[in-house]
Amino acid sequence: MSGEPFLIGDSMTGGYGKSGPDILHDCTIAVERGEIAVIVGPNGAGKSTAMKAVFGMLNLRQGAVRLDGQDITELSPQARVRKGMGFVPQTSNIFTSMTVEENLEMGAFIREDDYRETMEQVFELFPILREKRAQAAGELSGGQRQQVAVGRALMTQPKVLMLDEPTAGVSPIVMDELFDRIIEVARTGICILMVEQNARQALEIADKGYVLVQGANAHTGTGKDLLADPDVRRSFLGG
Ligand SMILES: Nc1ncnc2c1ncn2[C@@H]1O[C@H](COP(=O)(O)OP(=O)(O)OP(=O)(O)O)[C@@H](O)[C@H]1O
Ligand SMILES: [Mg+2]
Repeated sequence: MSGEPFLIGDSMTGGYGKSGPDILHDCTIAVERGEIAVIVGPNGAGKSTAMKAVFGMLNLRQGAVRLDGQDITELSPQARVRKGMGFVPQTSNIFTSMTVEENLEMGAFIREDDYRETMEQVFELFPILREKRAQAAGELSGGQRQQVAVGRALMTQPKVLMLDEPTAGVSPIVMDELFDRIIEVARTGICILMVEQNARQALEIADKGYVLVQGANAHTGTGKDLLADPDVRRSFLGG
């Protein structure tokens, strides 16, 4: 056992395509076993890009990604799912014309064993999805769609769940509920790496927080530290 975080994108530098400019500059993001790590920062800071890099959707020019001590930098996203990573992207994260249940079944695509128990766990976590299981996912409210997206990712029984703005476009009440469910997932032993626009609320539940600015680490600390940091408050939390 190394003292390393469970998942780390270590000193990542890279951008889109073969010749695109670097978006990430020596950026490091990590999540420890059993913890919730949160990435915040202004629009266009590279938060989604950092998530994609950790998930293998970007060619890094420098740096590495390690999962449970193993270098996975060269693995495809599909291979990373098999290693225990689940990813909910910021956009297009559900199949709108499929039913809720079909979305969850699609999530289980890599499973060759019986996944019904996992689906049952998803329905216990998000009871509304059981009620709406036969409804097209596109007919659901924003908060319910996000539950479908998170539920889909849980169907592979990931060890680490990566969420890019899971509360985007939902009301404050629905946001609180989603955060409560995410905490519940974390308590089952799944690490959470999450990007959030609702920085203050997200840092309140974060064990570790990262403020990214222009593709680089600007501030790193416990959620509590960052919430108390005058610089962070002034620049990113509205005072
Ligand atoms: N597919 C892409 N191809 C080329 N450039 C991209 C692509 N996606 C994002 N970018 C660029 O990368 C930079 C960082 O974008 P990114 O989406 O990672 O930011 P973000 O912090 O997630 O922003 P937001 O808060 O709006 O979600 C931006 O300059 C953006 O234009
Ligand atoms: Mg983004």
